[in-house]
Amino acid sequence: MRLAGKLAAEILNFIEPYVKPGVNTLLLNDLVHDYTHKKGAISAPLNYKGFPKSICTSINDVVCHGIPKKEDILKDGDIINIDVTPILDGYHGDTSKTFKVGKVSPEIEQLLIDTEKAMWIGIEQVKPGSRINDISDAIDDFLTAKRYGIVRDLMGHGIGRKFHEDPQVPHFRQTKKLAKIEPGMTFTIEPMVNLGTFEVTFSKQDKWTVRTKDGKWSAQYEHTILATTTGYEILTKL
Ligand code: MF3
Ligand code: CO
Ligand code: CO
Repeated sequence: MRLAGKLAAEILNFIEPYVKPGVNTLLLNDLVHDYTHKKGAISAPLNYKGFPKSICTSINDVVCHGIPKKEDILKDGDIINIDVTPILDGYHGDTSKTFKVGKVSPEIEQLLIDTEKAMWIGIEQVKPGSRINDISDAIDDFLTAKRYGIVRDLMGHGIGRKFHEDPQVPHFRQTKKLAKIEPGMTFTIEPMVNLGTFEVTFSKQDKWTVRTKDGKWSAQYEHTILATTTGYEILTKL
């Protein structure tokens, strides 16, 4: 898991300089695909439940699971989340970041800052004796006070030999008690944060693209985390 996570971080680092006005998302996909294979890994998204490409590229009001395509050309002021998951020696490393394309508006700048902060606030709750609820509650308290919409239909997840395992990791407050955090658990924390409503739509056309219902923009950051005897380790860091 450490090696897969480190490679996932390297992949995001590799692709960052290509995220510029004029680039199309299929090129970003192909660059990541080749880089991943050169490192002896494969791309988990490709053919996962029928997903057709190697990364997810989610622009502006696309919340997640955007499909790379030649027609999607980045322009100044856009934001794009790139979500990568290599499988290395049978283990998954899952991480994403929202990148700015050129210069973005102050409101969007703040959305990115707050979304990343929400992820870190969640990560800081990971310690023995805590529950998944502590992650959900901390993220919800921070974002709700700032009047953001927190996506409810998609969550963080256990990860390991499988892409998505138990437990689910919600980014909003739950009424029921969730799993206790035990050393050795590996899971993701990946809040999707909307400027408007929390509600999303699922594309009928391509079966994947998730958009905000009101068309306002959305951001996301994701790390894969290992729970340890003293706290946590970020697996998807350089
Ligand atoms: N990487 C996404 C996650 O964070 C899952 C993408 S599934 C795909 O869970 F099929 F769209 F790639
Ligand atoms: Co994930
Ligand atoms: Co992901």
